[in-house]
Amino acid sequence: MPNKFERTLVILKPDAIHRGITGEILDRFEQKGIKPVGMKMVKLSDLILDKHYAQHRGKHFFEPTKKYMKMLPVVLVVLEGLDIVKVVRTMCGPTDGRNAPPGTIRGDYSAGISRNIIHSSEDGEAADREIKLYFKSTEIFGYDKLDADFYYDVERGE
Ligand code: PPS
Repeated sequence: MPNKFERTLVILKPDAIHRGITGEILDRFEQKGIKPVGMKMVKLSDLILDKHYAQHRGKHFFEPTKKYMKMLPVVLVVLEGLDIVKVVRTMCGPTDGRNAPPGTIRGDYSAGISRNIIHSSEDGEAADREIKLYFKSTEIFGYDKLDADFYYDVERGE
């Protein structure tokens, strides 16, 4: 079966904003042929963070993580590509920047788990849920790139 074009959500976290590396990070995705189809800057509230991190409620890092995510606005980006959830997770690297290999976003920019630069959806189900949490359907844009066939064999989904 041909691979499907999918979407995922990334959040460029307050440390990425403060350090002025949002452009560099987005560039990595674009250089790989991954297409941004939605993007905005927002200040996250407790209400939305409680929903986003619902499965972590009660864990020792829940409140500190919410506090960190409210330090500055964040940039929310919906990315589209083949096997995108897995590809973007790999590019981000493991959750803890100190264990993340060089060449990954966290490996190159993060010094630890509580300031780890970027969030990316864990699986397809989480991606659907998170995209709906942050974006209206009118804020996501499907468009074709003229050079798409030089990034993927579009017809065969490979
Ligand atoms: S776990 O251990 O499986 O619950 O962790 P994970 O699903 O990878 O990520 C949990 C999110 O909380 C952030 N965070 C931490 N996780 C684990 N331990 C500590 N100490 C911690 N501090 C913060 C972590 O970055 C994950 O958030 P996102 O936004 O997905 O990166």
